[in-house]
Amino acid sequence: MKTAIYPGSFDPVTLGHLNIIKRAAQAFDRLIVCVMVNSRKTGSLFNPKERVELLRRVTGQLRNVEVDFSNGLLADYAREKGAHVVVKGLRAVSDYESEVQMAIINRKLYHNLDTFFIPSSEKYTYLSSTVVREMARYGADLSDFVPREIISDVEAKARGGQS
Ligand code: PNS
Repeated sequence: MKTAIYPGSFDPVTLGHLNIIKRAAQAFDRLIVCVMVNSRKTGSLFNPKERVELLRRVTGQLRNVEVDFSNGLLADYAREKGAHVVVKGLRAVSDYESEVQMAIINRKLYHNLDTFFIPSSEKYTYLSSTVVREMARYGADLSDFVPREIISDVEAKARGGQS
């Protein structure tokens, strides 16, 4: 059974993430979407438990997709799960350098771990969770950016302040 891991901050999950999840779920037998900690990011909207809950809600129909959380290293998590593939979405050239750097580091930490890049759908190349958080804080319409099942959660959280 081929297991792949799709790691990310997912604060919150966007339509761009969901597009990558659906495509990766078709390519692998089992896909674990793992909420992880990005130490370079500050100013979160949702806590990790909430991010997992939102991801579970939007992926509930995808039978080979699981959602998890880890606050450790991706390489350790992959080893623990018996996974040899990490899936990442690539939006633009600007993503490339840091993503390749992370892929190489992860492979150094666990030599059986490779990263497969999936190009973003052209509809979502501009989209990121950072942009969603910013728009939500100003009350913008989020329907083109996040799955409809979570729009009210994002709006409420943005109105209520940060977690
Ligand atoms: O959605 P993001 O913020 O671009 O995802 C980045 C993430 C969370 C996948 C990355 O920061 C990560 O892998 N964090 C876990 C710790 C780790 O293994 N870091 C890479 C080696 S230093």
